[in-house]
Amino acid sequence: MRLDKFLGDHNIGTRKQIKEYVKNGRCSINGVVAKKADIHVDENKDEISFDGKVLSYSKFHYFMLYKPQGVVSATTDGRNKTVLDLLADENVRGLSPAGRLDIDTEGLLLLTDDGELIHRLLSPKKHVDKVYEVHIRKELSDGNIRQLEDGIDIGDTKDDGTPDLTLPAKVEIKGMDEDGRPVIHLIIHEGRFHQVKRMLEAVGNEVLFLKRLSMGPLCLDESLVPGKYRELSDKELKILGVKEK
Ligand code: URA
Repeated sequence: MRLDKFLGDHNIGTRKQIKEYVKNGRCSINGVVAKKADIHVDENKDEISFDGKVLSYSKFHYFMLYKPQGVVSATTDGRNKTVLDLLADENVRGLSPAGRLDIDTEGLLLLTDDGELIHRLLSPKKHVDKVYEVHIRKELSDGNIRQLEDGIDIGDTKDDGTPDLTLPAKVEIKGMDEDGRPVIHLIIHEGRFHQVKRMLEAVGNEVLFLKRLSMGPLCLDESLVPGKYRELSDKELKILGVKEK
């Protein structure tokens, strides 16, 4: 590929700026200062550095964010801070969150520019499981658990007007939080709007705190604090089926 394209993919600058930077001797290939921005490089073999820092070639970018409460899972928003604002230092174009969490929900959010992976994780046909830690107003009865696990009417309708029940889910009772509220893990295989809150509402309960712990094979790194993020590890990329980074 052309050197200016390679540098552009690393968000070094516009084509025009890159031409200037290269002319000023800021880029080296295998230790030799590059003279022109339109030369060809082998991104898999050549060691390309800019301002002394070696750039590795990644076609796509993958970040795990511990989404805090109070931030929206959108790419732009007129009023609230967005999850992209939290990754602003990365200066990566085209990142999108893989699915949405409500403004008052915290936890795992994957942000990437790999549209194929987003599609695979969100496609309703794939039924990727998501695990949520849910703190609720009151204890669930055995009947409530059965309803949640079998599929429940949360107000959605099919094209023919009949109730579109949620897919079978799994409830795990986890004990109490420090305020004495019951804590459960709810494992669902869809991503309907406000799904967890609506499911609990449908059994006469209420969600007081909601945190996503995992999405498919990807688990929230508990060493992250809310608002912090990191790149996915090679191991995580592998379990997500990412072949070419
Ligand atoms: N279900 C909800 O109700 N809210 C979320 O943010 C995620 C799942």
